[in-house]
Amino acid sequence: MIDMVDKFREQFYKKLRDVNDVKSLEELRLDFLSKKGQVSALMKELSKVPDEKKKEYGRLINNFKKELTDRFEDRKSEIVSLQEKLLIDGAESYDESLPVNCPDGSYHPITLVQRELEDIFESMGFDVEDYNEIVDDYHCFEALNIPEFHPARDMQDTYYLTTPKELLKSHTSAAQNAILKKYGPMLHETGRPIRAVFPGRCFRNEAIDANHENTFFQMEGIMVDKDISISNLIYFMKTMLSEVFGREVTVRLRPGFFPFVEPGFELDIQCLICGGKGCPSCKNSGWLELCPCGMIHPNVLKHGGINTDEEPFKYTGFAFGLGLTRLAMMKYGVGDIRAFNSGDLNTLSQFKSI
Ligand code: DAH
Repeated sequence: MIDMVDKFREQFYKKLRDVNDVKSLEELRLDFLSKKGQVSALMKELSKVPDEKKKEYGRLINNFKKELTDRFEDRKSEIVSLQEKLLIDGAESYDESLPVNCPDGSYHPITLVQRELEDIFESMGFDVEDYNEIVDDYHCFEALNIPEFHPARDMQDTYYLTTPKELLKSHTSAAQNAILKKYGPMLHETGRPIRAVFPGRCFRNEAIDANHENTFFQMEGIMVDKDISISNLIYFMKTMLSEVFGREVTVRLRPGFFPFVEPGFELDIQCLICGGKGCPSCKNSGWLELCPCGMIHPNVLKHGGINTDEEPFKYTGFAFGLGLTRLAMMKYGVGDIRAFNSGDLNTLSQFKSI
């Protein structure tokens, strides 16, 4: 009997070592601890042993059962907690078949910055929205007051698909129309202001250097309500940037032209890499264009179904397009934009692990 227990114990631990997911753990439990399992088989053997040995062997088997049950529970909670760590924020369940014996990964720096910003904006009452990477000409340009042949399109040459009028979005502003249409009815019916941010991957036909990539991330934001003004825009931008950098950053506003805002601005921050002295990341200017913004053009609001001229009040709004990639460069002191898409683990694994 003692030999049998030892043999089963050895088998159990050998198998337990290889178990990495809840499903195979359950199979192991059935093998050893269910009615038809090895421990029950030992119990049946007990009837065959002489009466004077029954007590001793009974205790041996019970202890063995307890030992296996404890180890089983330990491993189960280990697997579950490791899998919970792998849960993507907001997901309600995890993939039980996911192996857990692999080294912890780390979040991409742009993901970290994006999530941080989402939290900041959510705390200010903004909804976080998602949007497609393939969009049509109407959403990317027409609805944003950039008609066909408008020279502003030249700044945003992107990748066109073979399907008619479809392209990879060149800016997150492409989502503005859909967001206005989604939240506009609520604004009109209940007066709930539209406040939304939408992060996303953007594409442009760029000559790549330390400061330009053909694939990069932006976060667009809009707010539409009664009598929104430039002061509201400045307030939100300042609050957000001081949260992100954890200190006062030096900013400046310059006039800027974008067909979908009027007036439009360029919000620059002083380069945090060189402290304003000038370096390759800021094209030696000491400043980085971080956040173009402005008051949403009435044509854009109209395309989005927002009533712009009904009395007694006027709906107006602001919009901004934050360069998430650029923000990540500033925040983490990354001097070359190409590091982000390089897949180089020496660089990318330096960021907070999950
Ligand atoms: N979509 C513009 C770009 O990528 C950036 C931009 C400018 C967005 C002004 C805005 C804005 O929302 O108001 O070049």
